[in-house]
Amino acid sequence: MKEEVLKMKEKAIQEIQNAEDLNSLENCRVNYLGKKGELTAVLRGMGSLSAEERPVIGALVNEVRDEIEKEIGVTKQNLKKKELEKTLKQEKIDITMPSKKQELGSIHPITQIIDEIKEIFIGMGYEIADGPEIEYAEYNFDKLNAPKNHPSRDLQDTMYITDEILLRSQTSPVQARVMETQKPPIKIICPGTVYRSDSIDSTHSPVFHQIEGLVIDTHVTMADLKGTLEVFAKKCLGEKTQVRFRPHHFPFTEPSAEADVSCFVCGGKGCRVCKGEGWIELLGCGMVHPKVLQNCGIDPKEYTGFAFGCGVERIAMAKYGIDDMRLLFENDVRFLKQF
Ligand code: DAH
Repeated sequence: MKEEVLKMKEKAIQEIQNAEDLNSLENCRVNYLGKKGELTAVLRGMGSLSAEERPVIGALVNEVRDEIEKEIGVTKQNLKKKELEKTLKQEKIDITMPSKKQELGSIHPITQIIDEIKEIFIGMGYEIADGPEIEYAEYNFDKLNAPKNHPSRDLQDTMYITDEILLRSQTSPVQARVMETQKPPIKIICPGTVYRSDSIDSTHSPVFHQIEGLVIDTHVTMADLKGTLEVFAKKCLGEKTQVRFRPHHFPFTEPSAEADVSCFVCGGKGCRVCKGEGWIELLGCGMVHPKVLQNCGIDPKEYTGFAFGCGVERIAMAKYGIDDMRLLFENDVRFLKQF
C-alpha cells in the first residue's frame, strides 16, 4: 500500500510539473485531491486495512497530500507569472501609433447669433421668455388680432395638427402668453423655432428661427422702438449700421413698419450681400395694437407698447455672407466649422 501511495505521489508531482496552463493544473488537482480523486480514494479504502497499517498509511496520505498541495501552489504561481508575461507581450502598446482623433464640435451659427442677440437685449434690461412650439391657433392668430380670413391662416402657410392646434408660424404668440401672465412693465425677447409649410429653397425652410421682442409700459412710443432697434442693429451688425423704417401692415401692430439696415458689407453702395440694394430687410415691428392689449387683459388706455420680430437665419446669412439657407440645416461640419 505504502509503495502504491508513494508511486502515486511521484506521478502526481510529475503531472503537476508538466502542466502547461492553469486549466490542466486544476485538472491534476481534481484527479488526485478532488472528491473522486485517486488519493481521496485511498483514504476511503482505509477501512479494509489492518489496525497496524491504518495509522501509518493515514499519516503517509496526509503527508503526500500536503506535498501535492505545495507543488500545486508553486506551479500555480509560476504559471500565473508566465501567463501575465505572455499577455503583456501580446498587448504591448505601440506608443508611436497615431491616436484616435477627438472630433470637437462648434456652436451652430444660428445658436451663436441667438446668444449674441440675447446678450445685447439682456444688456438693455430685457428678460428672455419662452413659449410652446405646438401652439393654439387662438394664440398664434386670434389673440394677435389676425382676421379669420388672413392669408397666413391658410393650410398652405401654416402647419396644422388639428383645426385649433398648430406648429407656431411665428414667435408672436409668446407676446400674448407673456401679457396674460405678467403685469407691465414688460420687457422681453423670445428666441425660438417656428414652422411654415414652405418648400425648401435657398431662402426658405419649413423650420426656421425668429426672435420676438415686446415692451409694454406707460408712455412707450414709436421713438422708443426706433431707438431700441438702432442700438440693436449697431451692436449686432457694426457701429456704422443705419436703420430705416418703411410703413407696412401687421395685424398685431398699429402703426406697423419693416426695418431695413444699411448693408454692413458695402456700407450702402450695393454689393452681392445686399443684392445691389444697399439695404437689407431686418425685421417687422410696430406699436402693439390696442385690440391685442385688450385681448390679453391689458388696458390700452393705461399702457402702450412696441413689438418686433426678426428672422435669425436672415441675420446669419447677411452677417456671414451665406447665400443658401440650406447650408444652415444640412449640418455639414466642414461648413459649420467656419464660424
Ligand atoms: N410675426 C411676424 C412675422 O412672422 C414678425 C413681426 C412683425 C413680429 C411685427 C412682431 C411685429 O412682433 O410687431 O412675419
